[in-house]
Amino acid sequence: MKISVADERDIALKKIKDEIVALKSSPLYEERVKNRYFPVIGEGSHTAEIMFIGEAPGENEAKTGRPFCGRAGKVLEELLISVDIERKDVYITNIVKDRPPGNRDPLPDEISLYAPFLDRQIEIIKPKVIATLGRFSMQYVMNRYGLEWELAPISILHGKVFKVEKFKFIPLYHPAAAIYNQELLKVLKNDFQILSSML
Ligand code: URA
Repeated sequence: MKISVADERDIALKKIKDEIVALKSSPLYEERVKNRYFPVIGEGSHTAEIMFIGEAPGENEAKTGRPFCGRAGKVLEELLISVDIERKDVYITNIVKDRPPGNRDPLPDEISLYAPFLDRQIEIIKPKVIATLGRFSMQYVMNRYGLEWELAPISILHGKVFKVEKFKFIPLYHPAAAIYNQELLKVLKNDFQILSSML
């Protein structure tokens, strides 16, 4: 029996999930077990044209195993609706798949440990467009895919479109930054218009 592309992707992504679930070498594994958290692998269409990459799960995400399901997720959903894109049609993940304690920034070692899983997710899903949310995923993607010479603060790079071999790339502000900042929400809405024109 021939396996479809969608099935192949499901199998490969399930393997990533199993490996992360068993990732006892992670410095965040103890926290996961102690708090009865889940790792947050990613969610959405396995044939998505757009992949969003955030930082790391917050508490709501770690409690449910779903990315962007708290307040930042509400902002992300509002932004998607503003350009008529359905959440189920995109793929949403993070660089770091377990929650750093106290919502602190991910550490370089944590990013290095989890990033190969992200690389595999990109290889499997083959999105046309990668949109990073926040500076950590922006810096990772730019360093990883040969855009290190273009690196600059997110205040300069947000909403700019880059082309790499395999996909187009647009850095965006993190939606959490717009929770109490209407000006930034406007900037994000404008950048989402650019994103939707990249398809
Ligand atoms: N912030 C992130 O970067 N990722 C999530 O999944 C939730 C909040």
